[in-house]
Amino acid sequence: MQANGERLWAELMAMAELGATENGGSERLALTERDKAARDLFAAWCLELKLDVHVDEIGSMFARRAGRNPDLPPIMVGSHLDTQPRGGRFDGVYGVLAAIEALRTIEEAGHGLQHPVEIVNWTNEEGSRFAPATMGSGVFAGAWSLSEALSRTDRNGISVADALKAIDYVGTLKAKKRPIHAYLEAHIEQGPVLEARGIPIGAVTGARGQIWYRLTITGTEAHAGAAAMDLRRDALAAAAEVILAVETLAKGEHPDAVGTVGSISATPNSPNVVPGRVDLTVEFRAFEKDTLLRLDQGLKAWLKGTREQRGVAIDLEVSMRSDPVAFDAKLVAAIEQSAADAGHEVMRMPSGAGHDACRIAAIAPAAMIFIPCVGGISHNEAEDITVDWAEAGASVLAGAILAADATGF
Ligand code: HGY
Ligand code: MN
Ligand code: MN
Repeated sequence: MQANGERLWAELMAMAELGATENGGSERLALTERDKAARDLFAAWCLELKLDVHVDEIGSMFARRAGRNPDLPPIMVGSHLDTQPRGGRFDGVYGVLAAIEALRTIEEAGHGLQHPVEIVNWTNEEGSRFAPATMGSGVFAGAWSLSEALSRTDRNGISVADALKAIDYVGTLKAKKRPIHAYLEAHIEQGPVLEARGIPIGAVTGARGQIWYRLTITGTEAHAGAAAMDLRRDALAAAAEVILAVETLAKGEHPDAVGTVGSISATPNSPNVVPGRVDLTVEFRAFEKDTLLRLDQGLKAWLKGTREQRGVAIDLEVSMRSDPVAFDAKLVAAIEQSAADAGHEVMRMPSGAGHDACRIAAIAPAAMIFIPCVGGISHNEAEDITVDWAEAGASVLAGAILAADATGF
């Protein structure tokens, strides 16, 4: 079965026009009007394919194709349409549109499926506007409650509940787990390995666990010219120590771990006022659970020292925690076989990035297919892929769906 790369590319480019940034990327933060536009376009394409589109209480979308046996649980295939503020055109989007292309490829090859298939657009995978990431798939899998998710607010105090209402995507489908035969997600690698090795397909074996924190550092606002250095409680100088601590701790656990301070704001943010408050985020990720534990303990010990030396208050809140994930061995093998059948070289590899598949792996057999991205660049407007890679991934996804349909797990 050979997917139609040109057809898939045309849809990727049409979707990329929604929330296009002037530097060639995408900005469709979760539950904004731009996200709504992408959701509406996805729904329109699914309705053209005679798929029934259902929306759940957290706004995730399920486009269902009947199988020969309606009593069987569905094979779910999908990803996300929301993006980072200056995201790329393919992170998430590729997996949703490759799922549509894979279904068309199966039908054009004349194959029938026993299981129903549901193509999924999960709400708020990125976690950029509203934490946690993988919010919709996390509610579905029971990682967090619907009410917890609906109550989360963005920097302007707008709740998920209100944002969902504003874009008219409050669905009626219960946002909770139901039987799934298998879950498959195609995604760009967001790293350099496949491209560097000249291999078009990754059979993803698992993903790093993550801990996300929100920190508030409170010192004393003071006059930048009059306040003596030894008497200051400078929240931003304290934050500088925290940022270097995160880097030092993560480097100490290389190559298993990574650590990032991705967001920071200082108050009152005036050139001649010693900052009295800093809000920042920290995230650690690792393939080993023990590594995450050591990083968590290391961070808390470091913060204790900073509090004592600088006399600042530091409040720490965990905003997301997810264990390392191992994907389903049978599905990973089916992906490898599908790649071989399609004539594509394939390699097994872990995922540094988190994905909706990591949430679904907790409740059903799940696995992922990676395609390369240019220079391994992602979460960046320059994110890019080739039509050949896009086509290869969709062909392998089609074969993996067929294999899953014939497999008992
Ligand atoms: O953060 C992640 O790993 C995902 O790309 N949102
Ligand atoms: Mn993604
Ligand atoms: Mn992403």
